[in-house]
Amino acid sequence: MKTLGVLTSGGDAPGMNPALRAVVRTAMEHNCRVVGINNGYDGIFDGDCEELGGRLLSGMIDRGGTILQSSRCKRMYTPEGVDEARRRLAELGIQGLVVIGGDGSLTGALELSRRGMPVVGIPASIDNDLAGTEMAIGVDTAANTIMQLIDRIRDTSRSHRRCFLIEVMGRNSGYLALTTAISCGAEFAVIPEYACNMKRVVTELHDRFQKTRDNSIIVLAEGVCSADTFMKRMLAERGGEFEQEIRITVLGHVQRGGIPTHFDRVLGARFGELAVTGLLQQETGSMTALAKGRTTLIALEEVIGKKRHPAPELIRLASNLQIDFGDPVEV
Ligand code: F6P
Repeated sequence: MKTLGVLTSGGDAPGMNPALRAVVRTAMEHNCRVVGINNGYDGIFDGDCEELGGRLLSGMIDRGGTILQSSRCKRMYTPEGVDEARRRLAELGIQGLVVIGGDGSLTGALELSRRGMPVVGIPASIDNDLAGTEMAIGVDTAANTIMQLIDRIRDTSRSHRRCFLIEVMGRNSGYLALTTAISCGAEFAVIPEYACNMKRVVTELHDRFQKTRDNSIIVLAEGVCSADTFMKRMLAERGGEFEQEIRITVLGHVQRGGIPTHFDRVLGARFGELAVTGLLQQETGSMTALAKGRTTLIALEEVIGKKRHPAPELIRLASNLQIDFGDPVEV
């Protein structure tokens, strides 16, 4: 294998650049050239590519986002689109592909591998919603950003004895909400994997304020509902009013940017290196993963379409820390 392609796709995640750098450096170390495909899968269709190396890669290890840029490419959602992408990759002379992205991006990677393209995926999404890996690139940075922002909100909520309802990203995953509720000492975490007991939330809030005049933090995962909707439900449960003032903060895309943490840089480097050494050893249709602290390759077939659940020890921890995160969902 002499020419590898690499692309970043879907929502950007801090740590994508260190992963990219490791892909290129490892490939060069093995006498391979690397073609960077710009703007996600769209770059394949548009022929928007450039050879990576040297100066292009300098000074980017500490930058959030992705220097290759990213997109959510609609053309990859259809079998015809994937067929065409496969053809174009061959025309571009790309013999192996590294796809850095989340669930949707790695679904595309799996489809390409089914059409004979050697592909290894690298999980990168702040949501940490991919099965098969303990962590994806970007999760640690996003969680640290959220933690610092909630710490700041706690200062003002304490000063005014208020309750803050804070909406965090995560798509359908409650990982960011649950873990930042733990790291910030929040009173409530509302996550999609557990059913919020609204009656209990408003009663606990009310009692806490009555007894202690204390502030409270509710971390709400966006996958449950918007903060505005949640607020309306809370008010409805209380018959329209709360004694304590409640403020809403929606953190938004600030959670996705920023300097990648040490953890994300090292994870990106480990995954990037493993993806290339894997491809060079004929690995395909796989994803780099972190399992019990070690990096490994697992089949994309075992990842795509599988739902990731919060680790039981995280749930036990939240419970023992007296964070109300709801009740198990009946199935
Ligand atoms: O998947 C990453 C993520 O940031 C989710 O947490 C969020 O729901 C979504 O992407 C936002 O997507 P966009 O940037 O396209 O609005």
